[in-house]
Amino acid sequence: MDYEEAVATAPPGWLHFSFDDIGRLPEWVRAHAMAGIPSGEPRDRLLRALFWTLVYHLEPEKWDELARFEPINPAVVDALPHNLDTALDVGAGSGRLTGHLVARCRHVTAIEPSTGLLALLSRRMPQVQPVAGWAEALPVKDHWSQLTTSCAAFGPDPVVLSELRRVTAPGGLIALINPESPGWFEAHGWRRMTAPAMHAPDHPRWIDEFFGPLDPPRELLTIRVDG
Ligand SMILES: C[S@@+](CC[C@H](N)C(=O)[O-])C[C@H]1O[C@@H](n2cnc3c(N)ncnc32)[C@H](O)[C@@H]1O
Repeated sequence: MDYEEAVATAPPGWLHFSFDDIGRLPEWVRAHAMAGIPSGEPRDRLLRALFWTLVYHLEPEKWDELARFEPINPAVVDALPHNLDTALDVGAGSGRLTGHLVARCRHVTAIEPSTGLLALLSRRMPQVQPVAGWAEALPVKDHWSQLTTSCAAFGPDPVVLSELRRVTAPGGLIALINPESPGWFEAHGWRRMTAPAMHAPDHPRWIDEFFGPLDPPRELLTIRVDG
């Protein structure tokens, strides 16, 4: 999501954060987040644009609660391959998708820059290898993964897509759930599956008030890496 779109689409919870919170982000996270932001921007626009980063890094348990009540559509989960040796979840958060990979793959690695989210994931899934890192420079060997996944984390960023391809084994699958701009992927040879919309399970009211209406992920975009 580009800067202007992040400003325009910030959920109401952005008002919960103050300018000082930006200074509480880990230095490497702040540098990464500020890289795409023009200098001299007003504080309210900065806070809007950084809303998700502030949640993931300063209040990871809030994201975790949202993810709990926005489960991935079961038809999308069922469409993922089974019985694999290696899988990678990029931008894994607290493990909403990773949990499904564990049931399908013997070795699962989760890449996630938020140490708070990664700690939640590790506590729940000690069998997963947790790695702090960015999708733009994945700390993973070439061709390691038979199934490379990501849920609700990226759009058609050429640097990220090139990394996803690099780490995927020949003949392996890249599966993106609810990427930004799904139409772009479809137009570039990815297979698109859209499951019927489902209501979010009953959940506390603060979640809507903070994050806006819930929308469980239901788009799956896949492409096979040439063998
Ligand atoms: C919307 S959350 C989705 C988390 C998880 N995939 C899920 O479905 O519950 C997006 C996640 O991507 C991570 N993320 C954002 N930018 C990233 C980047 N450049 N590289 C790796 N992860 C990133 C965030 O920290 C956050 O955990």
